[in-house]
Amino acid sequence: MGDAKRHMKHLGHAMHGLAGLLLLSAWSLAALPALAEGDDEARTLYAKVCSKCHGLIQEDKLSWRPENLYVPAVTLPLGPNLSGIYLRPAGSIEGYPYSRAFRELATGWVWDEDALDTWLTSSQEFVRGSTMYLKVKQPTRGKIIAYLKKYARYKKP
Ligand code: HEC
Repeated sequence: MGDAKRHMKHLGHAMHGLAGLLLLSAWSLAALPALAEGDDEARTLYAKVCSKCHGLIQEDKLSWRPENLYVPAVTLPLGPNLSGIYLRPAGSIEGYPYSRAFRELATGWVWDEDALDTWLTSSQEFVRGSTMYLKVKQPTRGKIIAYLKKYARYKKP
């Protein structure tokens, strides 16, 4: 195979992979049930900013069970399941390998609005040494928190 031809073949594979990824994202969003008006934007923000590590949550399934995830994390299956995260005790997903820094800080408090706001403002300032590195600016931060508060409220399993 000539160099140019080999190059084209690689490019073909790369494009194919990209198309697959885009299709997957489009499918994930299409598979979700309709939301109340005005929440679409917030869900899209969550999908963009959080779901590559946390997966898409099942709205209205209020517990944290793994089956309440629609789609596992799209690219990096890194973070714990966020279904039912609002008012859920910090660091409570059994079997998830939280960082040592996070475990030391997760001493029985719950993810209320304040905690989520501080965490998403700068995860490293809140928990130095955490494995989540993220700073979310306003108004995105507020919209994502409102979305979680409404559609991912904790209920004891
Ligand atoms: C690049 C990957 C990544 C992204 C993007 C990300 N997170 Fe995380 N998140 C993590 C990891 C990893 C942890 C575990 C942190 C630790 O153990 O130190 C985590 C932990 C959390 C926790 C603690 C959960 C618990 O069980 O106590 C919350 C809440 C959270 N993330 C919310 C969010 C939200 C909301 C977004 C989007 C605005 C987001 N994360 C985006 C990787 C990510």
